[in-house]
Amino acid sequence: MIREDLINFEPYAWEPSTEEIARAHGLRTDQVVRMDTNVSPFRPVSVMKRVAIEVAKMSVNQYPDTSYRELREAMAEYVGWDANCIVPTNGADEAIDIVARTYLTCGRNAVSPVPTYSYFRIATELQGARFKGVGRRSDFYEDVESILTTCDGRTSVIWLCDPNNPTGNGLGDGTVERLCEETDALVVVDEAYHEFSGRTATRILNDHENLCVIRTLSKAFGLAGMRIGFLIANETVVRQLNKARPPNSIGTVNARCGTIALRNHAYVMRNVERLVQERERIRSELSRLKGVHVYPSSANFLLIKFLNYDVKGVKRSLLQQGMVVRSFEGNPYLSDCLRVTVCSKTDNDRFLKALSRALTTSSTT
Ligand SMILES: Cc1ncc(COP(=O)(O)O)c(C=O)c1O
Repeated sequence: MIREDLINFEPYAWEPSTEEIARAHGLRTDQVVRMDTNVSPFRPVSVMKRVAIEVAKMSVNQYPDTSYRELREAMAEYVGWDANCIVPTNGADEAIDIVARTYLTCGRNAVSPVPTYSYFRIATELQGARFKGVGRRSDFYEDVESILTTCDGRTSVIWLCDPNNPTGNGLGDGTVERLCEETDALVVVDEAYHEFSGRTATRILNDHENLCVIRTLSKAFGLAGMRIGFLIANETVVRQLNKARPPNSIGTVNARCGTIALRNHAYVMRNVERLVQERERIRSELSRLKGVHVYPSSANFLLIKFLNYDVKGVKRSLLQQGMVVRSFEGNPYLSDCLRVTVCSKTDNDRFLKALSRALTTSSTT
C-alpha cells in the first residue's frame, strides 16, 4: 500500500560509509578522507568537553524542553534576532521538511533555480507537490525573470540557497527582495554555508513578511553529527511553522551542545578563516591544471569541471586512493563536474596529489 508517487521516486543520493569504502578499496578507515559532505575537518573539542562534563547530570529520562527556550535564545543572540522568531530544528534538513509540510501539498508547487541542494526537490515531492526547477545562467547565477515567469498562482515556496550547494556562488543583488515583493510565495533562503560567505538575508527579514532563512551548526560549527539547525522568520510565519514542527526532535544532549557552541562561537570564525585560506590555495593550484576549470566559491567546497577527462574514471581513481568526492551522474548541468570539500592542509595536499595521478589515467584526448 505504498504511495504510488513513491514507486519511481528518486531519493537522496549519498556515498557509501567510510567503513564500506575502506573495505572495497583495501584501505584502513583512517586512510579515507571524506571530501563529499561539506562538513568541517575540525572537531570542536572544547565544546564537546564541556558537554561531557554536564552529561552525567542531565535529566535524559525526561523529554527535552519542547520550547527549546535556552537553545532558541542562544540562536537568537548569535543571529541578532528575536527568540520568538526562531524555530529550532534537527538540522537544516528538518527545517526544509517543516517548511514543505507547512506550505506544500498536492496541487501546489515550489520553484527553485537549479542545480541546487537536492533535498529541496525531495521535500517538495514528498508532500505530493510539484518541484519546478529553473535553469541557472552559465555563470550559475539565478535567472530572476525566468523564476518569476515560472511562478504561478499555485507556487507556495521559492527555494534559494546562498551560497548555493553545489555551485558555490551567492545570490545576485536584489534577488531575494524582488522575489519577496513580486510573488506571494514563501521565499526560503538556505544559508547552511553562511559563515563562509558572510552574506545573509536576515538583514531584510523586517521588510518582508514572506521571507524565511535557514541555518545549521553542521558546517562551520563542526557539529554535523549533533543535528542542530534553525529557521528564522517573522512571528506570523513562525506560528504556522511551529504547527508542523515535531515537538522533541532535538535530543537534550544535542540541544545543550548547540547552546554551548553558539555561546562560545569565537572558534567558528577562526576555523572559517583557515578553511577560506585553504580553499583559495587549492583553487589556485587546481586552476594551473590543463583541462580543469574551478568555479569561484564563497563556501567550504569547490566545484570542478573536467573538460577532457572521463569524470567517472577520475572519481574512481580518487576513491582508490582514499579520497571521496561528490559526483553528479545523471544531472544534465553537472555530469562533467566533481564537488570537493575543503579539508585540513594535509588532506588537501593529499587530494591534489591524488588528483594529478587520477588525471594521468583518465584523459579522453
Ligand atoms: C544547502 C544545504 N542545506 C542543508 C543541508 C543539510 O544540513 P543539516 O546537516 O543541518 O541537515 C546541507 C548539507 O549538505 C546543505 O548543503
